[in-house]
Amino acid sequence: ILSGGKGSRLRPFTYTSAKQLVPIANKPVLFYAIEQLVECGIRDIAIVVGDTADQIRAAVGDGAAFGANVEYIEQDAPLGIAHAVKIARDFMGETPFVLYLGDNFLIGGVKSFVDRFRENEANCQILLHPVKNPEAFGIAEFVDGRLTRIVEKPSSPPSNLAVIGIYMFDRHVFEAVERMKPTARGELEITAVNAEYLRRGQLHMEMLGRG
Ligand code: G1P
Repeated sequence: ILSGGKGSRLRPFTYTSAKQLVPIANKPVLFYAIEQLVECGIRDIAIVVGDTADQIRAAVGDGAAFGANVEYIEQDAPLGIAHAVKIARDFMGETPFVLYLGDNFLIGGVKSFVDRFRENEANCQILLHPVKNPEAFGIAEFVDGRLTRIVEKPSSPPSNLAVIGIYMFDRHVFEAVERMKPTARGELEITAVNAEYLRRGQLHMEMLGRG
């Protein structure tokens, strides 16, 4: 679970608190992510933390309250989602895993998607959801009903279908992140990783309910 970032787009709520601790129905959004992973039978969870590490640690602790073992991985600077994956390599070892952006929230949980990823023994699985502001997301392009490209924060979006921040990867993700170079915003982009799986025909996509 990624829990770094400054939360600049969520101000004023994030002047005093980490964005992942902003409550939804009286519960920090991050807690839903942990609970949803535990619901999938995932007990070993690493949380990648940045500037707000102390707040996140104080809120989640060792994970026992969630029935999980939680470890923390420090990301020295916000160098991108794919960079967070890179520094989690030792924790993950060879095991397929869920990458859950701690500011995302999925009504109904992720179990059905994780089950499908396991059943298919997929290499990579992404989830798509229609959004009103596609300029702010990784966006899927379809040609003749086939997913052809994913573009990060496009100024002219090819669709309104956003790649949401819950991804599943196999161990090949680590080779991809090692090869990557930072983009103009100084980050290793997860979209480039997904694009590599797509090129190899190893990207499985699930569509979330509309609305
Ligand atoms: C990140 C990803 C983007 C994805 C989004 C989902 O963007 O880069 O592809 O659609 O998460 O929340 P960020 O919010 O880090 O700018």
